[in-house]
Amino acid sequence: MITLGIETSCDETALALIETREVANKSGGFDVECRVIDSLVHSQADLHSAYGGVYPSLAKREHSKNLIPLLHKLLEATQDPNSPQIILDDAKFTEIFNSFRTSFEAQNADLWQSFTGADFLRKIPRIDRIAVTEGPGLEPTLWVGISFARILGALWNVPIVPVNHMEGHIVGSLLSSDEPTGTWQRLKSIDFPALALLISGGHTELVDIQRKHETDTRYSYTILGQTLDDAVGEAFDKVARLLKLPYPGGPHISRLSEEAAAMLTPSPLRLPRPMMKSGDLNFSFSGLKTAVLYATRAATQADGSMTDEFRRGLAHEFELAVAETLEYKLRSAIDQIGARTLIIGGGVSANLMLRERFTKIALEYNIPIYLPSRHISGDNALMIALAGAIDTTKHDDVSGMLLKADGTKKLGVQNIE
Ligand code: KG4
Ligand code: ZN
Repeated sequence: MITLGIETSCDETALALIETREVANKSGGFDVECRVIDSLVHSQADLHSAYGGVYPSLAKREHSKNLIPLLHKLLEATQDPNSPQIILDDAKFTEIFNSFRTSFEAQNADLWQSFTGADFLRKIPRIDRIAVTEGPGLEPTLWVGISFARILGALWNVPIVPVNHMEGHIVGSLLSSDEPTGTWQRLKSIDFPALALLISGGHTELVDIQRKHETDTRYSYTILGQTLDDAVGEAFDKVARLLKLPYPGGPHISRLSEEAAAMLTPSPLRLPRPMMKSGDLNFSFSGLKTAVLYATRAATQADGSMTDEFRRGLAHEFELAVAETLEYKLRSAIDQIGARTLIIGGGVSANLMLRERFTKIALEYNIPIYLPSRHISGDNALMIALAGAIDTTKHDDVSGMLLKADGTKKLGVQNIE
């Protein structure tokens, strides 16, 4: 089965094409094998940098303009021009396209406009299913991907599967390679119960993952704990802003922190380790951010600057405070559910200090740890295509007409039967 993935939940416009198949395993069930045909990500981070964060209406406009050119590139690179192709005739194409006019033209003129002249869409590609992010994320940008999926689904007569972005971050970590080499790989096998720690710009969650049914490739999810305020990535970004670093701030904080560690001059600064004594698996990072705010105010000189030594020391202490908090909750969650596999996902899992520390914990517990390759730790459509391909639920609404963007979509809600 060939799946097209579409991701527009935040500031990355992404499309991917994968092929999947199920192979019988020794325990009578099925494993999933996947072939990455191609995966394209167009980041808008530089555009949003000027605003110090994602500017939703700008993101919506950019997704709307970028999707068609990105799809053209994807299909040109992946469809065999010599294989016979069905071409939609002009009248049919115009008829289907125009059936969307009333609802889409007013809602998103940029997206509508971008379809004009996209004649390549008349060639029906080898795609069996379209997987699109329905949430969580920014609703205006989620709608762009959903509208795009609907038009493609109608033109090519392909069913649409809604995907939870966070599930994407979980299953993305099951790929051994994200390289578009086209070679088959078996997804890393999960011993249940599994624990996922999802750390991104919008979320910080600990998730208990169970197999849905013995012979099923799908998973069910229960959120064990989550942030009560800021997400980890958000905290990284806000602290970066206080240190006058560009957006997204995570990689910059991490680089400063590494410099501090290499200098071996410990900073006298001490930040709180939030929620260690809360007795549950929830997180809170806003207090930590406020502590950083006070520290930066105190260290700001008359000309508004801060010394490099202070900035490095603060970045390092902040990263340590985050790491120790996450480690503490991660251990508690492993103990609580008796986790037999650890999965880490989300943009912040690119962080080297965190990767090292989580790997040590898994070693200590003698359980496997699955981290996303650093290339797909951030938002991408490969993980969305994969999540859509694994979910073999029969959706009644195959045309996606009832599909709605859900900015606060919770993991697991659609998985309860
Ligand atoms: O998953 P993601 O790409 O987007 C969301 O779904 O939110 O995560 C983006 C977040 C940003 O907050 C960014 O600063 C953070 O991931 N991030 C990092 C690193 N690389 C990206 N945080 C810490 N260390 C990094 N190396
Ligand atoms: Zn994400």
